[in-house]
Amino acid sequence: MPPEAPQDLSGYLDACATSPPREGVLKVMAAAHRSAWANPSSLHGFGLRASELLERSRGRLAELLGASQHDLIFCSGASEAIHLALLGLAGMIPPGRLVISPVEHPATTAAVETLLRQGWEVAWVPVDRRGVIDLIALSELLVPPTRLVSLIWGQSEVGTIQPLEPVSRLCRNAGIPLHVDAVQVVGHRLVDADALGVDLLSCTAHKLGGPRGIGLLLCRRGIPLLPQIGGVQEGGLRGGTEAGVLAAGFAQALEEASERLLRHGGQDPLAGLRDPLLARLLKLPGVSLSGPAPEDREGRLPHHISLVVSSEAGVPLPGRELVRRLWRQGLAVSSGSACSAIASPGSRGGGSAVLRALGYPESQCASGLRISLGPWLCSADLERVPGALEQARRELETSAPGH
Ligand SMILES: Cc1ncc(COP(=O)(O)O)c(C=O)c1O
Repeated sequence: MPPEAPQDLSGYLDACATSPPREGVLKVMAAAHRSAWANPSSLHGFGLRASELLERSRGRLAELLGASQHDLIFCSGASEAIHLALLGLAGMIPPGRLVISPVEHPATTAAVETLLRQGWEVAWVPVDRRGVIDLIALSELLVPPTRLVSLIWGQSEVGTIQPLEPVSRLCRNAGIPLHVDAVQVVGHRLVDADALGVDLLSCTAHKLGGPRGIGLLLCRRGIPLLPQIGGVQEGGLRGGTEAGVLAAGFAQALEEASERLLRHGGQDPLAGLRDPLLARLLKLPGVSLSGPAPEDREGRLPHHISLVVSSEAGVPLPGRELVRRLWRQGLAVSSGSACSAIASPGSRGGGSAVLRALGYPESQCASGLRISLGPWLCSADLERVPGALEQARRELETSAPGH
């Protein structure tokens, strides 16, 4: 079969859902598939070669994340890593209270549902209109029976970056382990897990140009974990033949993403692409920003735009319908209205639990639209986006009730 022509990615604006594999990642993985495909646990030369690649990849990832390679556990993605972190630690200590935010990813809320069935309590730290947690409320919750805190670092739907340094300090002072869902941050910000002082950190390869199907849990030594999948691999903490080829792709993806950040003084250059686009979008009638302002460099994911869209008359428009209409114009975005798996305070089902947690009225909670950028894009690719949104909005406006 002839090699496939490279795909046109100029309309792919959904990096926060997943990102296309980088060329360098594809190359590394193709080579690894040919030479290091064997079972890393096998004692023969084929296995040793696979094992060497796996451990080299683990070492590179650990170095790039500011961690020890002994602390990295490979698994199938962040959903599994989050489950291993929360259920694994909870399995080794008596039930108590888990503190989360109301803007967690469904992977976390699903694990929390299991913990509730195991006798745990859950408490939500409130967030403000930008999605930022209330540090005073958090500190008040860091007393018995709280035994674990889990927070999403970079919120996928509204782009909020939580102030992790003070959160980590508060948890450490209270002697309570902290798990961080770093899925949307890794690759867009240099991460030094040791300096941050987090105990558990989950991330995944596919959001940063790596392969789908591999993620990792960083678990600081001394934090006990009950394996959720039995077996001898990964130090007995996660059974199943290790995916050495995927690990090599993951390491390559993070290396390329980190080099890109370093070339730009540690900042993601995607913010420079995002800001002019956002400024143009916000000039459109009926379009407003949700989540933190882009000027808040520390507070908002650099590649992330989240909007709430209404008709000119102020009638909220359905985000999912906008997504479909934008795709008819060749633009891939998302509505960001995935429902949370468990009910947080004030949730009533339908629409986005995240927008609801930020204080949006029920009528606007299904009107979110997310545009997320990646390094495959250039400013010329984004030229047509405001016009396309305006067209999609007008089409819907004329069919919306109340028009
Ligand atoms: C913030 C966040 N956490 C967790 C996940 C789950 O990651 P994975 O797809 O690797 O299971 C995602 C993916 O959508 C995410 O955006």
